[in-house]
Amino acid sequence: MQIAIVGTGYVGLVTGTCFAELGFEVTCIDNNKDKIDRLKKGIIPIYESELEVLVKKNISEGRLKFTTSIKEGIGCKAAIFLAVGTPQDKDGSADLSYIFAAAKEIAKDIGNQESILVTKSTVPVGTGAKLKRILKKTKLQVASNPEFLREGSAVYDFMNPDRIVIGTDSIHSKAILEKLYQTFISKGAPIISTDIASAELIKYAANAFLATKIAYINEIADISEKIGANIKDIALGMGLDRRIGKDFLNPGPGYGGSCFPKDTEALLKVSKDLGAKSSIVKTVIKSNKGRKKNLAQKIVYIVGNNKTIAVLGLAFKANTDDARESPAVEIIQQLIKHKMKIKAYDPKAIGNTREILGNKIEYCSNAYDACKGAKAFVVLTEWSEFKNLDFKKIKSLLDKPVIIDYRNILDGALVRKLGFTYYSIGIRS
Ligand code: NAD
Ligand code: UGA
Repeated sequence: MQIAIVGTGYVGLVTGTCFAELGFEVTCIDNNKDKIDRLKKGIIPIYESELEVLVKKNISEGRLKFTTSIKEGIGCKAAIFLAVGTPQDKDGSADLSYIFAAAKEIAKDIGNQESILVTKSTVPVGTGAKLKRILKKTKLQVASNPEFLREGSAVYDFMNPDRIVIGTDSIHSKAILEKLYQTFISKGAPIISTDIASAELIKYAANAFLATKIAYINEIADISEKIGANIKDIALGMGLDRRIGKDFLNPGPGYGGSCFPKDTEALLKVSKDLGAKSSIVKTVIKSNKGRKKNLAQKIVYIVGNNKTIAVLGLAFKANTDDARESPAVEIIQQLIKHKMKIKAYDPKAIGNTREILGNKIEYCSNAYDACKGAKAFVVLTEWSEFKNLDFKKIKSLLDKPVIIDYRNILDGALVRKLGFTYYSIGIRS
């Protein structure tokens, strides 16, 4: 079966490559010419585990192609996936301009061809209905198939789905999508077959629920810290209750990234527009925004104003180069207001952070350089390599032996034994 993917970013490239790996013939389309030229040579624009190898393999085996032309890319395809961005608009809603622009172009170029248009982008309820109106003169049917992959483990998540959501009112669309996902279905992945609106809302409800879990454990961590309890034991004690589940109970500097912040805002906007109350989502957003400010103030309280500090980690989480809405970047912006000088290191996200912060901070080529002459060592992203640093050397480089670990990844007992004052989250120092 031949398929096309319109929008070759994190989701489009992973989806297209994984479908090619499953044996389908895939054409990935993007209007960014530079990106497509590089992809044709097997150069991938993002850091994502396993992806580069799979892209190169599927190009060389002839199942994965790239083009900038929608007209060329969609011809003879059984399904066309929309994976363009839906960023946050000024009023908090999802900006659907890329979705509608792509759909209009597809409608113009599809002619009499029968196919299905499948939304993989995260779109608010009602978008499928609007797409149907745009496509009414074509033979395209509309379906919603939200994506649940996480950056950093995107290929694994795509290939090992917890569930597959198919929203459509067309038997043909459902049959095509079930064929595409047959490998996972035969391994037992549950299929949720539903109407388009429910599929669209499942995606927002899931992301907002995960964001709520994180905001909740962060509040419990604050209580734990104040009473001298241990948040790691608390999270485990809660999470082993199957009704709660142990994932997404790691306290930290708040959730970030290109998804939870914008998707919670978009859900709030949709609920406001519908006249429905969304007080929980509203509180979660507020709590998450406040957290970064509070944690920046805590650093200033520990270290003092106008000091140099080493920041370890810039990405919004480990194993990605993505710094969009990164808690690390937001905390740094707060610290700059307190006239702090920041020396930062990240294994992958320096390039993307530079695009946001420019030369407001100093970028270092390793953790040790960042520590030279700094008053404290602050962990803001949970990269594994930070656990295995030479802490004796770190101590000799720092001006003061202070570690502030906002991801709880270091061995507190070990670094204390080496003479560090160690602060973490949800555990009294
Ligand atoms: P992205 O910004 O990385 O990629 C979007 C791509 O679409 C860009 O390369 C852009 O050039 C291209 N594009 C825009 N308009 C186009 C057009 N008319 N024709 C061809 N190409 C066009 O975005 P992303 O992170 O992949 O997210 C895409 C969607 O998937 C969003 O709705 C997002 O919320 C959702 N999502 C993202 C993730 C994630 O982990 N990033 C996971 C699940 C769902
Ligand atoms: C998230 C969802 O996990 C995916 O299922 C979804 O497909 C995606 O959004 C999306 O819709 O785009 P992602 O943003 O890539 O994926 O990353 P997560 O692993 O969910 O982390 C998001 C943020 O929460 C990060 O800043 C992370 O550090 C933070 N987090 C996560 C915590 O602070 N604690 C945790 O226990 C888990």
